[in-house]
Amino acid sequence: MMCCGACKVARRAKLLFLLLLSLGLLVWITTFAGSDTVRAIQEGPRMLWGSAGDLRNIHSLLGGGKRHPPTLLPADDLEKHPQPPLQICPERSPLLRGAIALTFPSSLSLSDVEEENREQLSPGGQSQPSDCISRQKVAVLIPHRNREKHLLFLLHYLHPFLQRQQLQYGIYVIHQAGDATFNRAKLLNVGYLEALKEQPWDCFIFHDVDLVPENDLNLYTCHAQQPKHLVVGRNATGYKLRYKGYFGGVTAMTREQFSRVNGFSNAYWGWGGEDDDLRIRVELQKMKILRPPPEVARYTMVFHKRDSGNEINKDRMSLLRRTPLTWRSDGLNSCSYSTASIQRVPLYTNVTVHIGHP
Ligand code: BGC
Repeated sequence: MMCCGACKVARRAKLLFLLLLSLGLLVWITTFAGSDTVRAIQEGPRMLWGSAGDLRNIHSLLGGGKRHPPTLLPADDLEKHPQPPLQICPERSPLLRGAIALTFPSSLSLSDVEEENREQLSPGGQSQPSDCISRQKVAVLIPHRNREKHLLFLLHYLHPFLQRQQLQYGIYVIHQAGDATFNRAKLLNVGYLEALKEQPWDCFIFHDVDLVPENDLNLYTCHAQQPKHLVVGRNATGYKLRYKGYFGGVTAMTREQFSRVNGFSNAYWGWGGEDDDLRIRVELQKMKILRPPPEVARYTMVFHKRDSGNEINKDRMSLLRRTPLTWRSDGLNSCSYSTASIQRVPLYTNVTVHIGHP
């Protein structure tokens, strides 16, 4: 009997203890479960760098396009698809193919080229690699008037070319309004100034509309110290450098290099001389021009006759003699223009501009 009584007391004590323990636990949960401390413990290391897909979605919600740089995103957005952080792209892209055969089918249409690039581009002809962070942000500037077919061929090859190089890039076409004499150099100054209003581009490629690169080992990136000349040879001239100081066709300069030389001169109306003027500016700054190997820096020039409104500039030699005296006051700092429109079409950003006349 004695033993039975003692057992009962012990059982009751045990029950009471368990009851008190459960009550304590309940009080603790209601007090702390909503706090940040507990949420942090529950979520653990879920604040991660977004995958490209997530970033694309977030960016498009913010009004931008596809493929934008990584941002630290809230855990909820990443819960479903956690990804490791994006790395800087390799120095040599694994997507490069070297020389490719170019063809220029007359049947190629704008909608064909738009369709080819639909998945890869944000409005305004911008793109960036989905699986790594580009080493440079590159703006390609193309001066233009009445060369729609050339532009189409160039875009058809240039977009995949730049994507194979794993670049973050944007293509700007700077279209001279009206029919005054063409001024390639001034249009390029406008392109530089307008592109920088949009994004802090690191590197600028000044690109003729009729030159199509043949080899993607010819990298559309800038060298930190040296301006680059990317056209060593083209089909029309037997793939030979035209002359020792030739600096025309396609060139690459960093934002700083171009601003240091005060950009191009605005004074070259019509064909010729403006690229030689830029070379003089570069030399005055004691910068040396860099060229890729000739077997790589090859271009096909799409055939055309000289445009009306772009006649040879007969004043170019006298202008060139004066460059050392004029470069400080004639260039980016004196480039006056009025923008007629800026349109972000699928394959490029079109800047239509009034730049005056000679
Ligand atoms: C002109 C340059 C041109 C070069 C090659 C030179 O005489 O001044 O502007 O790029 O010839 O055609």
